[in-house]
Amino acid sequence: TNVLFINGANLNLLGKREPHIYGSQSLDDINLHLQEQANKLNLVCHFFQSNSEGEIINRIHQAMGNTDYIVINPGAFTHTSVALRDALLGVNIPFIEVHLSNIHAREAFRHHSYLSDKAVAVLCGLGAYGYEAALSFIANKR
Ligand code: DQA
Repeated sequence: TNVLFINGANLNLLGKREPHIYGSQSLDDINLHLQEQANKLNLVCHFFQSNSEGEIINRIHQAMGNTDYIVINPGAFTHTSVALRDALLGVNIPFIEVHLSNIHAREAFRHHSYLSDKAVAVLCGLGAYGYEAALSFIANKR
């Protein structure tokens, strides 16, 4: 089983960015831990982060035919990007949407996601554990 983790806008700043909301771990810390978990679960993982919507879309296209699951935290693109939704639907790869914070407990403009109604699951408010829970779900499912 091949899993692609995608993190979008501003998530390269994790650990430094509003740590009271997003936690103190860097994205590298989080991904290192996910890689360890994936090894135990016999899953193959790839990790991608970009602040550019187009690069994320291109990476999703590259996943077509070689990826069983996408775990995606699009950052603010969650609330803005029809193009990202279309890319995920276009490649027909099941995906899980993750947010570190509980987007429903925050500003109204974060309550809507262009992805959620098409996601297998949406995890929000669990911090970095959301990525791990997604991985564990995928391992148990396949
Ligand atoms: C986020 C929530 C988004 O609203 C925000 O724009 C982010 C991070 C989260 O992980 O909680 O950049 O996706």
